[in-house]
Amino acid sequence: MPSPLRARLTAVLALSLGALLAVTALVSRPASAASTLNQLAKAQGRYFGSATDNPELSDTAYTAILGSDEFGAITPGNSMKWDATEPSQGQFSYTKGDAVVSFAKARGQIVRGHTLLWHQQLPGWLTSGSWTAAQLTSILQNHIANVAGHYKGQVYSWDVVNEPFNDDGTYRSDLWSNTLGTGYIATALKAARAADPNAKLYINDYNIDGTGAKSDAMYNLVKSLQAQGVPIDGVGFQGHLAIQYGFPTNMQQNLQRFADLGVDVAITELDVRMVLPADATKVATQAQYYTNVVKACLGVSRCVGITIWDYTDKYSWIPGVFSGQGSALPWDENLAKKPDVYGAINTALGGSGGGTPPPTTGCKVAYSANDWGSGFTATVTITNQGPAISGWTLKYSYSGDQKLSQGWNGTWSQSGKDVTVTNTSWNGTLATGASISAGANFTYTGTNTAPTAFAVNGTTCT
Ligand code: G3I
Repeated sequence: MPSPLRARLTAVLALSLGALLAVTALVSRPASAASTLNQLAKAQGRYFGSATDNPELSDTAYTAILGSDEFGAITPGNSMKWDATEPSQGQFSYTKGDAVVSFAKARGQIVRGHTLLWHQQLPGWLTSGSWTAAQLTSILQNHIANVAGHYKGQVYSWDVVNEPFNDDGTYRSDLWSNTLGTGYIATALKAARAADPNAKLYINDYNIDGTGAKSDAMYNLVKSLQAQGVPIDGVGFQGHLAIQYGFPTNMQQNLQRFADLGVDVAITELDVRMVLPADATKVATQAQYYTNVVKACLGVSRCVGITIWDYTDKYSWIPGVFSGQGSALPWDENLAKKPDVYGAINTALGGSGGGTPPPTTGCKVAYSANDWGSGFTATVTITNQGPAISGWTLKYSYSGDQKLSQGWNGTWSQSGKDVTVTNTSWNGTLATGASISAGANFTYTGTNTAPTAFAVNGTTCT
């Protein structure tokens, strides 16, 4: 790519990220070493973002994370689409899109505008109308002039054209191509440039993440637009992946060949779904997919950022569309980070995994009983979650008539319902994180309910 263009693009990105930093400083976030996803991405000249949608913005636990330093970019998942922005011909509605923009702005996050032109989520007046090519061109230009004009200066980029191709690389047959031929893409890009000269103009699609017929078609489209002098700044690789279909072929090389044409590339809608239920093997594969995507992006200097298609399973589009599939995102339905998946992304971005640091106080006790009706073997495993200890005493109580007969790996005693176990001479030292197991046989009549409360050296354990 010619270096003046590269310098201009770098300057524009630097400006955007500079503005991001400036606003971030204004909302006075505590200074800390890079550890969140966006902080780590930013340290490498990228952003890490999430999609969102208006209904979710009233969920305060959700917005606390969406607006945190984990995310430096926001994409409205639905609120800038045609059905939301021009529900009746010539009547524009920006309430939902504005809500997302002001959320992002208040937190110093950039916005990826999504999307000016798609075959889905079109209003009824548009799809049920019968348009000549001239009429539809004018409708398209008017829509983009208004919507991109309204958001001028407020969005970092626009997905101007979304999903123009079939999986075999032929053009999708839809309202646009059927009425206007493939020239609608150039028309849309030119209209977007005129409406907001500083927004990066993208074409966005799925199943182009790796090499293949569809990706080749996109590659040829970008080349042909450039040859015609049509404005095109970037290609969005949606990244809707599924572990059961394998990882895209040669992803990094694929991104690189687009970058070599002189356009930015971005991962715009990343999620990695699986057939439920999740298990350790599937999650390990999923974590590896996330790692691979992050590394592919970081391996290409013009890969400007990664956006996940919402950050939590609570609001993922997947279960509603792919029945029986899901668990696709790094935060679970309760808004808790999934250590393996979040950790993989964080680590691939150069962080230390970012999981919850191990507790530095307390203890954990696991209790199990092998019961034969009139007696049982109890096994207790103590894990020290605090500073190293030398010498431990475990106390717990039964609710029935359980009677100690014999214990091992500790000195067991009983007073009424209360059981006490102290270390032997050889297992009293427990480093932080270390565990010890001890066991004993009991007899009982009636019911044998497991104890629920344990204390080690007077500290209640989890
Ligand atoms: O707003 C209506 C609501 O009034 C109604 O009660 C409800 C009943 O179904 O539907 C609501 O609309 C839903 C809309 O999302 C807003 O939540 C639509 O049914 C639903 O189909 C729509 O799904 C969106 C989907 O695009 C449409 O295909 C997803 O949220 C959105 O995440 C998804 O995003 C797309 C990208 O734009 C392009 N790439 C693929 C990606 C996933 O499909």
